Amino acid sequence: MQEDAKPATIRRVCAADVDAIAARQAGRSGQDPARLRDRIAAELSDSTRRLWVAVVSGAVVGYARLTRHDADQAVPDAAPSGLYLGGVVVDPLLRRQGIGEPPTRTRMCAAFAEEREVRYIADAGNHASIAMHSALDFREITRRFEFPGVRFTGGVGILFQASQENSHRELPAKLTAFRGAFSP
Ligand SMILES: CC(C)(COP(=O)(O)OP(=O)(O)OC[C@H]1O[C@@H](n2cnc3c(N)ncnc32)[C@H](O)[C@@H]1OP(=O)(O)O)[C@@H](O)C(=O)NCCC(=O)NCCS
Repeated sequence: MQEDAKPATIRRVCAADVDAIAARQAGRSGQDPARLRDRIAAELSDSTRRLWVAVVSGAVVGYARLTRHDADQAVPDAAPSGLYLGGVVVDPLLRRQGIGEPPTRTRMCAAFAEEREVRYIADAGNHASIAMHSALDFREITRRFEFPGVRFTGGVGILFQASQENSHRELPAKLTAFRGAFSP
């Protein structure tokens, strides 16, 4: 983390953030921002999807989701049902400044308030994501799984899991070194 980096405030999303998130997501995916806006706005009232934003100097510079996945038992190798961290994204110009980690801790705390495990999936080539989550006690479970709507760029994805037993007692201590403001 750069010494002069400003700490991010992490908070739950509100309606005023929808445009900023849609613009960022559109920039990454090439999807139509208007359709993304509608989809993100719908998430505000969807109890299976929770969204946080990272804010620096009043601007949204990142976002992160926690979603509930219900496995289709008819699908072979379906990823297990439960809470999944989804798509933490930080503005490319602000990466490696301690912005992605705080919303990940926040989502882990939120998940562990409800369940013993939390999972996420990553492209096997996504070294930044894997390094960040590994430092937060996520461990590889399998590379053989199906998750609805997800295909990996290199064809290989990894399912990771963190357990309350391994992580939760550590989190309060880690939170004292937390670089962003905390808002569950
Ligand atoms: C993954 C991502 C969210 C990380 O956000 P970030 O703000 O850059 O991460 P942080 O600065 O909070 O990094 C926290 C720690 O994670 C690890 N880390 C993060 N990026 C890393 C990289 N490129 N290489 C190695 N380690 C990395 C480091 O241990 C880092 O701590 P340090 O900087 O003190 O060494 C960011 O790279 C991103 O937006 N990537 C594109 C979207 C994406 O792939 N999201 C994940 C989908 S599963």
